[in-house]
Amino acid sequence: MRVAVLVSGNGTNLQALLDAERKGENPDGRVTLVVSSSDGAYALERARRSGIPALTIDKKAAGGGRAFEEQLWQAVQEQGVDLIVLAGFLHILTPEFIRRANVPMINIHPALLPAFGGKGLYGIKVHQAVLEAGAAVTGATVHYVNEIPDGGQIILQKELPVLPGDTPELLQQRVMEQAEWALLPQAVAQLCTELRKKEESRTDAVS
Ligand code: GRF
Repeated sequence: MRVAVLVSGNGTNLQALLDAERKGENPDGRVTLVVSSSDGAYALERARRSGIPALTIDKKAAGGGRAFEEQLWQAVQEQGVDLIVLAGFLHILTPEFIRRANVPMINIHPALLPAFGGKGLYGIKVHQAVLEAGAAVTGATVHYVNEIPDGGQIILQKELPVLPGDTPELLQQRVMEQAEWALLPQAVAQLCTELRKKEESRTDAVS
């Protein structure tokens, strides 16, 4: 199954996917396209180092949200992907884009949704909110993308304790290391296997 990964920044989650693939942990899928919304994203370098086609589609350079999504759609269509993964992608896609996407689209969020999610809760802000609320546990969630930001059906979650002395930065790092980098590859591998089985049963039905 061909996987497109949409990124905007460092790309450690992308790296976790690539490492898992290299270790044979995603037998039914491989990352075939990386699209970054920012030219300076280190994620692009990670993709290039792994020999994966990578391109930038910048909202401003594209001439606004509509054109940005159109270019994104073209890129995904041209590669013929089976699964779209948002891994630190800092744009909320419009309901039109989501409806148009004829393949599953998933996202990783650094908290236990439905808590600490939604518009405005991204990056370090999520961990600040967790600490301000005095939550005892946090973690990461992989979920389907729907019209509601961070509101789609949950696929997998991993829980971690909030520790005394945690700062937003410490929590962010621990959530990435101990939850996100394991959870996302696991979810992607699981979905690739499901998609492969679906495709096989479709092929069997017509043959
Ligand atoms: C991660 O915390 C992810 O959960 C969130 O954005 C961050 C991206 O980090 N959506 P990276 O670019 O994968 O290093």
